[in-house]
Amino acid sequence: MSEMEQNRLVSQNINESTEGAEAASGGEFQVEQTLRPQHLDEYIGQDSVREKISLFMKAARQRGDALDHVLLAGPPGLGKTTLAQIIAREMGTQIHIVTGPTVEKKGDLAAVLTNLQPGDVLFIDEIHRLHMAIEEVLYGAMEDFKLDLIIGQGPSARTLRIDLPRFTLVGATTRTGLLSSPLRGRFGVEMRLDFYNASELTKIVTRSAKLLNVEIDPDGALEIAKRARGTPRIANRLIRRVRDYAQVKFKSISGFSIDSMTANEALNLFEIDSRGLDSMDRKLLTTMIEKFDGGPVGIETLSSVLSEERDTIEEVYEPFLVQEGFLQRTPRGRVAANLAYTHLGFPLKTLL
Ligand SMILES: Nc1ncnc2c1ncn2[C@@H]1O[C@H](COP(=O)(O)OP(=O)(O)OP(=O)(O)O)[C@@H](O)[C@H]1O
Ligand SMILES: [Mg+2]
Repeated sequence: MSEMEQNRLVSQNINESTEGAEAASGGEFQVEQTLRPQHLDEYIGQDSVREKISLFMKAARQRGDALDHVLLAGPPGLGKTTLAQIIAREMGTQIHIVTGPTVEKKGDLAAVLTNLQPGDVLFIDEIHRLHMAIEEVLYGAMEDFKLDLIIGQGPSARTLRIDLPRFTLVGATTRTGLLSSPLRGRFGVEMRLDFYNASELTKIVTRSAKLLNVEIDPDGALEIAKRARGTPRIANRLIRRVRDYAQVKFKSISGFSIDSMTANEALNLFEIDSRGLDSMDRKLLTTMIEKFDGGPVGIETLSSVLSEERDTIEEVYEPFLVQEGFLQRTPRGRVAANLAYTHLGFPLKTLL
């Protein structure tokens, strides 16, 4: 199961009993929930997003109104779901979670909408994957807080207009570009989450280690932070794997603090290199260099050569490689940057 599919499962399960969810994802779900910051002041990094959302929430609370609809964009694992949950908690309202592609009938969305209380947060994950017909139901709900339902069929069909409470739609997407403009235009607030820097991730690693009862020293935390692809979810996963390594190697980790050497050994064993690239990142870049002379190569071609879904390449792998300067997106296709050659030990291409 791909990480995205796993996330989809996690999102669906959030409102269900943890029993089922845990069975579905082998305990990782519960760990992710335990590590999730509950309040805005525990949410590390993303300073400008935090500042803005805090201001908008304050203003809405002062007016006694619901927060305007918020669109959160950014690669997987950067904290979109976490932020949506924080918004509901800070506004003192309930969160209702649905995932775009799983809403199949208009009636499914209507049922969720009619169950909302004033001020509630409706979180739609992967909102760019909503079916068009469902998306259209949202337009009136977002803009006028009205739901138009068509009852019956043919000449006897009639519309029923239902008033909805003022609610806040929080949409999450890994791909803003795929959102239709009528939908995008209905969000009052649009915010982009960026990759975290090493110092922010060090704080996240330190915080999570504490919650997991794992001792780690500042250098150990930094080592994990530097190799977490700028992503809190990956940082949290790496701590647990480094902990496993330390526990097996030293028989017990009680009284033991993970230092940079231990973290380094473990991460090397897990094939995560000094820049945080994993084996798939390296395979992608190596394929581009060896088979396509560094590109430009089209995404469809890459997808079939790597036997990896195009969406996964575009949403999970590329954003970090582009941000770190390993890969460039050009109108003619993807190009491996010089940094990819030097990092992977290939001689640089010389200009003729
Ligand atoms: N700002 C943060 N501070 C501390 N921990 C964070 C932060 N953001 C995210 N995390 C941690 O990272 C994990 C993943 O975050 P989250 O599930 O919110 O990501 P997401 O953006 O919704 O990802 P996806 O697109 O895959 O659904 C959370 O369980 C949380 O523990
Ligand atoms: Mg999420």
